[in-house]
Amino acid sequence: MSTPTPPPPLNYRDWEAAARDRLPAMVYDYYAGGAHDEITLAENRTALDALRLHGRVLRDMSRRSPVTNLLGEELAFPLVVAPTALHEMACAEGEAATARAAGAAGVPLILSTLSNVAVEEVCAASTGPVWFQLYVQRDRDRTARMVERAVQAGCSALVLTVDAQTWGIRERDERNSFRMPEGLVMRNLAAAEASGRFPEVEGSGLAAYVTENFDTALSGKDLEWLVETAGVPVLVKGILRADDARRAVDHGAAGIMVSNHGGRQLDTAPASLEVLPAVAAALRDSGVPVLVDGGIRRGTDIIKALARGAHAVAVGRPVLWGLAVEGEAGVARVLATFHDEFDRAMALCGARSVEEITPDLLSPPPPSHP
Ligand code: FNR
Ligand code: LAC
Repeated sequence: MSTPTPPPPLNYRDWEAAARDRLPAMVYDYYAGGAHDEITLAENRTALDALRLHGRVLRDMSRRSPVTNLLGEELAFPLVVAPTALHEMACAEGEAATARAAGAAGVPLILSTLSNVAVEEVCAASTGPVWFQLYVQRDRDRTARMVERAVQAGCSALVLTVDAQTWGIRERDERNSFRMPEGLVMRNLAAAEASGRFPEVEGSGLAAYVTENFDTALSGKDLEWLVETAGVPVLVKGILRADDARRAVDHGAAGIMVSNHGGRQLDTAPASLEVLPAVAAALRDSGVPVLVDGGIRRGTDIIKALARGAHAVAVGRPVLWGLAVEGEAGVARVLATFHDEFDRAMALCGARSVEEITPDLLSPPPPSHP
């Protein structure tokens, strides 16, 4: 008798379970894990789950639209694919598959500095916007060349990650001595002077690579340099405080990503949804858009983020699970599910447009006295 085929994944938990079944434990742990006790990783979810939506009724919802604009680009709905490293560990086509699926879904892909597929190939594969996430290397010439490559390749924005001053220790990776499977290379970093591979060490090869190559001296001046050189909007990713958000904008940031790196850097940092309102309030008058990531798994999570002041969300791990299970088609299905759930949640909340997703959905006004 043949074994029955399992039902197709319906939600993010199913996708993760299916990916876990397929991936080597070392790769699954790298994708899934967080720093130290994984407290922030868990709290990204509990902060979202604790919020309640006070949907409005008796409104005509027959016509509604999840479309939005971000930095001059139209998005099918307010979601971008967060930068995550090393997609060829999930699927042979790597970031090219992710890019095709994101483009088809009408949302931008933020390509990691640490991608396996080169930025030129990823831009060629995509029909939609590709933004380039930048890790500033100690070797500034190498960094400048990478920025030039990304912009030349067609990336329409840069995302400077600022929460990796040093590496957050992911104990799963230490235990597994995490390294890239044989044959994989980080193509944006592979050049005459660099191999694009991790050093051979005990413990996490990635942690060793980053410690060797990433710049620990990043400051506002470097942001200004990037804004001047890039010629495209520069977003700053990894902000959790209103004062830092304002400072980044003063140094030229065109967008802010509220993020704790999916709980992978400073453990016990607050959940991103927790600090989002303060950052959004600090930037309201500037007109600079705010994005948020960390634990966004449902259409209702997108509503909650927008009601707390975000213009869009970014999503990391669910995309990796889709990629691991079904490649490009899997990413397409994960993104389609987000789109469908968001559209339904808009209808059930009585929001016909993203502008109608307002803070009262989270805390309605108290009853008025006669
Ligand atoms: C990341 N993240 C990340 N961020 C970044 O700026 N550059 C990178 O290369 C990576 N790489 C990376 C790899 C993996 C496996 C994960 C899970 C995350 C962080 C990422 O952009 C984002 O902030 C979080 O993943 C968002 O949280 P969720 O949606 O995964 O909960
Ligand atoms: C990570 C990187 C690469 O979180 O940012 O693993």
